[in-house]
Amino acid sequence: MEQLKLEALKQIEETKDLQSLESIRIAFLSKKGSITELMKQLKDMNPDERKTFGESVNVLKQTIEEALTLKKTQLENDALLETFKNEKVDIHLDEISLPKGYRHPLIQVIRDVEDFFIGKGFSIAEGPELETDHFNFEMMNLAKGHPARAMQDSFYVDPERLLRTHTSPVQARSMLEANGSDLAIICPGKVYRRDDDDPTHSHQFMQIEGLYVSDDLNFSHLKGILLDMAKHIFGPDRKIRLRPSYFPFTEPSVEVDVSFMKADGTPIWIEVLGAGMVHPNVLTMANYDASVKRGFAFGIGVERIAILKYFIDDIRQFYINDKRFLDQFKGVI
Ligand code: DAH
Repeated sequence: MEQLKLEALKQIEETKDLQSLESIRIAFLSKKGSITELMKQLKDMNPDERKTFGESVNVLKQTIEEALTLKKTQLENDALLETFKNEKVDIHLDEISLPKGYRHPLIQVIRDVEDFFIGKGFSIAEGPELETDHFNFEMMNLAKGHPARAMQDSFYVDPERLLRTHTSPVQARSMLEANGSDLAIICPGKVYRRDDDDPTHSHQFMQIEGLYVSDDLNFSHLKGILLDMAKHIFGPDRKIRLRPSYFPFTEPSVEVDVSFMKADGTPIWIEVLGAGMVHPNVLTMANYDASVKRGFAFGIGVERIAILKYFIDDIRQFYINDKRFLDQFKGVI
């Protein structure tokens, strides 16, 4: 029995796989196995012998069973570890790549104009889009009932407040803040008018207001800076043309055209902004001494610049968010 035990334990110990372990179990413990054969000897023994012999065989059987179970668990664990080693699980998430953004063409135009004026020492001012009648009109020399108000059909929310019809009220707000000192600002922003939308009209559009208040300013300063600006935006061989016009907040007032070449080579003039010397009433209302201070001002139509710069045929394109349209401006600025 002792020999049988050593033999069985040795075989179990040396086994490297589950299949041969099973053969060992069959060899020792199955119906025809060596242990079962031993049991068969019991029938020829007397009762005392049978008892001790029987117990010993049982102990031997248990020992072998335990060794088999232990080895089986060990082999199964080894097999599992081996599988883990071979099956590499990639725990990384897929790379998340977001498409790179770019600026809306109107913002690109505004940034370009801002760059130009910041280089000339101007700063950027802002005002509210929901504006008072007082700042939108009265402070700009358009008293209640002034006929020129009719040029700017407006969205009123109550009798005293409206969506601003132009960025000019930022002039008045900034002048009051400056409290009599010199001022050089530009104010980009959205403006609103009651208009039916079509290829050349939009009820919402953008302007860039400009204002310079100082001593000894005259019309040639205005003309010089506007010519420089046109060259900065459209290229060095642009010319500008000034036509007399009327705005209640400037005197004299002009409309400014920039030279263009049509596709067939014909030169034309296209209007891009209004400008003028700030009206003494506007300076006085904003607490400047109009006998000493002078100012020039201008209001640029942002869509007009973008339309001319990028050859766009419908102003509504800027507002309908068609990605095919907008994608054309990727990386322009
Ligand atoms: N506010 C005018 C408009 O919306 C544009 C304008 C013209 C602004 C002349 C100015 C200016 O500052 O001097 O039509």
